[in-house]
Amino acid sequence: MILPVARMGEPVLQARAEEVTEVTAPIVQAFITDFVETFHALNGVGLAAPQVFKSWRMVIFQLSKDRAQARGYHEAVPLTILINPVIEYLTDETDLVWEACFSIPDMMGEVPRCKAIRYRGVSPEGHLIDRQAEGYHARMVQHECDHLDGILYPMRMPDMSRFGFVNEIRQRLMTPSEASPS
Ligand code: NI
Repeated sequence: MILPVARMGEPVLQARAEEVTEVTAPIVQAFITDFVETFHALNGVGLAAPQVFKSWRMVIFQLSKDRAQARGYHEAVPLTILINPVIEYLTDETDLVWEACFSIPDMMGEVPRCKAIRYRGVSPEGHLIDRQAEGYHARMVQHECDHLDGILYPMRMPDMSRFGFVNEIRQRLMTPSEASPS
C-alpha cells in the first residue's frame, strides 16, 4: 500500500521518533513492506518513516550509479533500510550542496552537511549495519536521520537566500554542473 506523505507543518515531522523495539514483529514488517513500496513509487533517493506518518526511527535510501555520478559521488548505494540509526561524525569539515525533500515539495535549499560519517543501525532482518560514508552518501543519510529528530533541511540552512522554488533556483542560482537531474 502506498502511504501518504506528510508535508512541512505536520506535527509528526517535528517530533522525535521512537526507537523500534522489536524489528521482526509482524506490525513492523508490515510497515516496512508499505514503506519500501512508497519509496519506490516516489522515485527519490531517501525517505524517513515520519514522512509517511509513522513516528519510528527508520529510514530508507538508495542511490543508483547514474544518480550518484550526477551528484559527484563515485559509487552506487544499495537499497538500505536502516532502523534505529546512529551517526558518528568523522570530520569537522562540511560542504554545502542543494537538497530537496518530499515533505517540502517544489522547493530546494543549500545545506551544510558533514563530509564523512560512520553510521550504524539494524536491518529489517535484525542484522547490524555498520558503514562509513562520504560525499552525497553521507549527506543523504544525514538528511534522512534528521527527520527522526524533527529536523527539516531549512532548519540547517545558514543562508535563507539560498532557499526557494526548484524552477527558479535551477534557472537563477545554480551553476550548470549543479543543475543536474534529480
Ligand atoms: Ni527529507
